[in-house]
Amino acid sequence: MCGIVGYRGKKNAKDVIISCLRMLEYRGYDSSGIAVIENKKIRVIKSVGRIDELDKKLSRYDLSSCTCGIAHTRWATHGKVNEENAHPHHVGRVTLVHNGVIENYKEVEKKLKDYTFKSETDSERICALIDSFYDGNNEIEAINNAISLLKGSYALGILFDGNDKLYGVKKDTPLVLGINTGETFLASDISAFLGYTNEYIVLDDNEIVEIGDNFNIYYNNKPVYKTIEYTDYSIEEAMKNGYEHYMLKEINEQIDISRKLYSKYIHDGEFSDKLIDLSKYKRIDFIGCGSAYNASLIAKYFIDKYCTNVNFYCNCYIASEYRYTNHYFDKDVLAVFVSQSGETADTLASLRMCNSEGIDTVAIVNVLTSTMAREAKYVLPMLAGPEICVATTKGYFSQSYICSLLVLNLMYKTKKIDKEKLLEILEEYKKLPENIEKVINKDYKTVAKAIYKCEDVYYIGRGIDIYSSYEGSLKLKEISYIHSECFGAGELKHGPIALISKDTPVIALLSEFAVSEKTISNIYEAKARGGLIITIRKESINIDKDLSKHDIVVPLTNEFIQNLLIMVACQLLSYEVAKLRKCDIDKPRNLSKSVTVE
Ligand code: F6R
Repeated sequence: MCGIVGYRGKKNAKDVIISCLRMLEYRGYDSSGIAVIENKKIRVIKSVGRIDELDKKLSRYDLSSCTCGIAHTRWATHGKVNEENAHPHHVGRVTLVHNGVIENYKEVEKKLKDYTFKSETDSERICALIDSFYDGNNEIEAINNAISLLKGSYALGILFDGNDKLYGVKKDTPLVLGINTGETFLASDISAFLGYTNEYIVLDDNEIVEIGDNFNIYYNNKPVYKTIEYTDYSIEEAMKNGYEHYMLKEINEQIDISRKLYSKYIHDGEFSDKLIDLSKYKRIDFIGCGSAYNASLIAKYFIDKYCTNVNFYCNCYIASEYRYTNHYFDKDVLAVFVSQSGETADTLASLRMCNSEGIDTVAIVNVLTSTMAREAKYVLPMLAGPEICVATTKGYFSQSYICSLLVLNLMYKTKKIDKEKLLEILEEYKKLPENIEKVINKDYKTVAKAIYKCEDVYYIGRGIDIYSSYEGSLKLKEISYIHSECFGAGELKHGPIALISKDTPVIALLSEFAVSEKTISNIYEAKARGGLIITIRKESINIDKDLSKHDIVVPLTNEFIQNLLIMVACQLLSYEVAKLRKCDIDKPRNLSKSVTVE
């Protein structure tokens, strides 16, 4: 969601900040703004729309002497999208940018009788609150007093009139410091400053950083000393590198990610001991949102198929429900949290609930500086590199890959498969990169042309293909804005078939040999109602030539990763459709990359 950047150094702050802000565009936003210190005075400039709009406005001013500032991309929560509500906010002697949601801001406002407000935001109330505690000298104390009254989440970048330092503090939403010789950055995540430094410090809740020529961190007014960490992510990984869109780049990166995951989790035909052994537990709960939830369904599917017995079973929950459902917890329960960002509010709250119950928790997570990566008992890194496109592709891929390995490890540990069988399966994992490449090289444009003007597209499948169709359908709707739903193929005639009329696209996924005959019958039913049939199938499932108008065939591989090849095809089809519809593929409307509100 919102992105925060702060800079203090020797360079032109405006240029540095805008370049960093652009790296956070992927988080989703509808307005942006910047505040720079100019001759000890603070100048605030804001704009609705893209950062380009802000940049255009900034070109009217000479800000070349400014070396300190803060900036923000806002994804509206409290109040409409307009300049008043955009950040930075300036009240009294305080200017700030805020990411998060203050739950008691109405209560806070009652304490601020002497202030009038220009915006509808909770953030402007924080600004006034800090100002109300500020005596003109003691910035840390003013911040501390203010945050002690706030309920909710916040990451703040703060400037004070007449002072040339930059301050930051956070709770329940991330804020990191980028460290470089002669300059310090403040940002919502490290990708913002990767173009300048790879060294960083992650702030913990309610630690306040004061950035002057050097930086100091305080907790409860006492200095805190923290280790500087290093990331090997490069700016190139976070840039488009010649691809037209991040989404396309990230789909292509799945080739390399599958290699990285293989070498991380498999050593000489054995599972790395970093891969959690699920057999030690009796119940596994998988928890995630959106695509992360869809990926965890892959684990459940295989556990149900091969491992469930009277003493062992698996559940999958969307995180926003998990917290509000009754669960029985004991040492035999393992909760697995699946999250690319590691910051999704509902998933994080569920993780905290499980931690407080004292059960073992695992985070399958990509951003290793994230709160989930720091709070879960065990971490399984997704190794996907920075995912910039708001709609996940490589993130889902990596989550689903790791889920499949967790199940295979379980099957091996519980002797459902022997070493020989395991090695045979792992051979297919080794071949995955070349198979993904084959899927990428197919023609999706022709199919996209056939459906991009349609209003509704339906996905159907059976077995694991149902779960793939959840993700395929989600991908299409979020980036192309075409209405799309998915159904178990067997469910069609129990209702949804009423939606099929002449030329309604029906995309049938066919990777389950055991039920393929039945799915094919369902496809014929849709075809008989005029449906425009598109099949995406593994090459060993044969169909009659007349069944589908368009037929995408992916290489045959082991069932544990067959869905990944099907998904690459679904991703590319959605991509081409969205491109023909001239959608903003990397930044779909209304969506945000890291959903830090519940
Ligand atoms: C869809 C998508 C979302 C995320 C969901 C969870 O393309 O990206 O559905 O999967 O918001 O996000 P993370 O994995 O960061 O917890």
